[in-house]
Amino acid sequence: MPHKKENTSIEGKVFTFKILRFDSHQDQESHFAHFKVTAEKGMTVLEALLKIQEDQDPSLVFRYSCRGAVCGSCGMYINGYPNLACRVQLSGLPSQEVLIEPLPNFEVIKDLIVDMAPFWKAYREVEPWLMPNDREKKGEHLVTEKNRAQIDQFVGCILCACCYGACPVVSRDEDYAGPAALAKLFRFIRDSRDKRDWKKTFKPLNNEHGLWGCDTVFRCVDACPKQVRPTDGIEGLRRRAVCSRGGHHGAGKTHSSESPSNEA
Ligand code: SF4
Ligand code: SF4
Ligand code: FES
Repeated sequence: MPHKKENTSIEGKVFTFKILRFDSHQDQESHFAHFKVTAEKGMTVLEALLKIQEDQDPSLVFRYSCRGAVCGSCGMYINGYPNLACRVQLSGLPSQEVLIEPLPNFEVIKDLIVDMAPFWKAYREVEPWLMPNDREKKGEHLVTEKNRAQIDQFVGCILCACCYGACPVVSRDEDYAGPAALAKLFRFIRDSRDKRDWKKTFKPLNNEHGLWGCDTVFRCVDACPKQVRPTDGIEGLRRRAVCSRGGHHGAGKTHSSESPSNEA
């Protein structure tokens, strides 16, 4: 069940956190550790973890930075669902027992810190930056309001990897590009300013490890804390690949950089 957001009074209530712990440098197996936290008004899961770290066990580790659902650092499983720890209030949890686990589909380095290298590798490989054809142009590359609305949800991705952790294809294929990278690529296919060479772009992705790997089960859509719908982006990429000459496995025949319509 996704966490509710209503802010009922929790002040003074004792919550039990059951946290999966593992240290890759010394442990053979992971184990659950239990901590009790007295809730304060407006307390989030991240704040509870900080309190545990400060008052009970400084060796408990996890990532965070902004504390405001912006930086994407604090993605983890909370009661079996991916979410940002800084965004989940204790008042919205279904009970005072809280299960905390690291994001699946990653190697655990320690406790809630996972090795994000495969996620960043896939992300880098889609070349997630704007490629205008008039790079020498001085000043801004403006986008119309209509076009901005078309890419808005994908621009909102904060790279938290909650979708990647929830994706069943990533769990069985470590070479799958994953929902966030593919959604980001779709963001550029939709951006009227982007004039990248789609023939070159699709070549490494027009296969089962790329845009044809997705099972379309929408786990990433359910997982995303920022209302991005990666599956829609993947479908858009597929449409582009099919509509381009050659379709599936025909990346070498997709439109060249001179002809993309930026509509998918
Ligand atoms: S698509 Fe959503 S869940 Fe995936 S990385 Fe971006 S913000 Fe996080
Ligand atoms: S819809 Fe595709 S990318 Fe998203 S979680 Fe499912 S298999 Fe993974
Ligand atoms: S701390 Fe930045 S998103 Fe949670």
